[in-house]
Amino acid sequence: MSFSLESTKELLIFLGKSLFSILEALLFQVIPKPRKNVAGEIVLITGAGSGLGRLLALQFARLGSVLVLWDVNKETNEETLRMAQEAGATRVHAYPCDCSRKEEVYRVADQVKREVGDVSILINNAGIVTGKKFLDCPDELMEKSLDVNFKAHLWTYKAFLPTMIANNHGHLVCISSSAGLIGINGLADYCASKSAAFGFAESIFMETFAQKRKGIKTTIVCPFFIKTGMFEGCTTKCPTVLPILDLEYAARKIVDAILQEQTYLYMPSSLYFLVFLKSFLPIKTRMLIADYMGIIHIMDSFTGPKKKP
Ligand SMILES: NC(=O)c1ccc[n+]([C@@H]2O[C@H](COP(=O)([O-])OP(=O)(O)OC[C@H]3O[C@@H](n4cnc5c(N)ncnc54)[C@H](O)[C@@H]3O)[C@@H](O)[C@H]2O)c1
Repeated sequence: MSFSLESTKELLIFLGKSLFSILEALLFQVIPKPRKNVAGEIVLITGAGSGLGRLLALQFARLGSVLVLWDVNKETNEETLRMAQEAGATRVHAYPCDCSRKEEVYRVADQVKREVGDVSILINNAGIVTGKKFLDCPDELMEKSLDVNFKAHLWTYKAFLPTMIANNHGHLVCISSSAGLIGINGLADYCASKSAAFGFAESIFMETFAQKRKGIKTTIVCPFFIKTGMFEGCTTKCPTVLPILDLEYAARKIVDAILQEQTYLYMPSSLYFLVFLKSFLPIKTRMLIADYMGIIHIMDSFTGPKKKP
């Protein structure tokens, strides 16, 4: 009897808290969630030398954060540093770092800790795409995709998470992709790496939650194509449902999600619905939709990032 009373009480508390969490989420659809203050926070962005990484750096510069910029390309990274200073950042540090090399990540991370301090917002953004069919893709390129797009996240977390746990303060941001949610023809290694990055970030989110480290937040970002040149040549057959995202818009949405401590951000929002459909529709129907929307052949016109002259 006492067991059933205890389990009824537990069930009622669970239902009450669940209802409250749903109402809270609905409320924040109507009134915007308050944004946290990131002035003075040490924000590390990998792949800061161009595209999304650069734009994120400029946004955090305007918010008064201390910036740590990593990129394998020293020249473009320093260009971002200068642009961040022009945007108002007073403390910006650029480090050349090849995130695909574990020892280099650990070495540069130690340098950052000594020279700048404890990173409190880590944005794993560096990424590459091969854009080749699986059997045409050389092994080294597939390994590189996994090293940059996924394994680098393991090493950066290893380097910076312990201090976040000790301080119960931090934010882990994973730039994954819509290709981490849905497998795409012609993007096997990229999809695998982005899906791994997603799974890893979500697992660490669960791990810190289980350890009651409520001060450590996670944001996992899954965008469709963004106009950065990474997916040069690719087009969309359904621009109303799946538009190619404007870079400024994507960066603003990501920063907003970080400031509002949003755990998942899919862009455009139609992706939430497509992922929901994927979870229950018959496979034939899913393939018809994918074909109708041009998703099956979306990589056919891929030409890849333009090489700098
Ligand atoms: N552009 C898109 O359509 C799109 C869509 C979904 C997700 N994403 C993801 O967004 C992120 C940013 O992409 P982007 O479009 O700005 O691409 P981008 O090519 O403009 O920028 C990527 C940056 O990462 C750097 N980089 C590459 N390899 C590196 C390494 N080994 N170590 C350190 N830095 C390295 C590059 O030098 C470059 O500055 C990537 O993770 C990408 O996969 C992009």
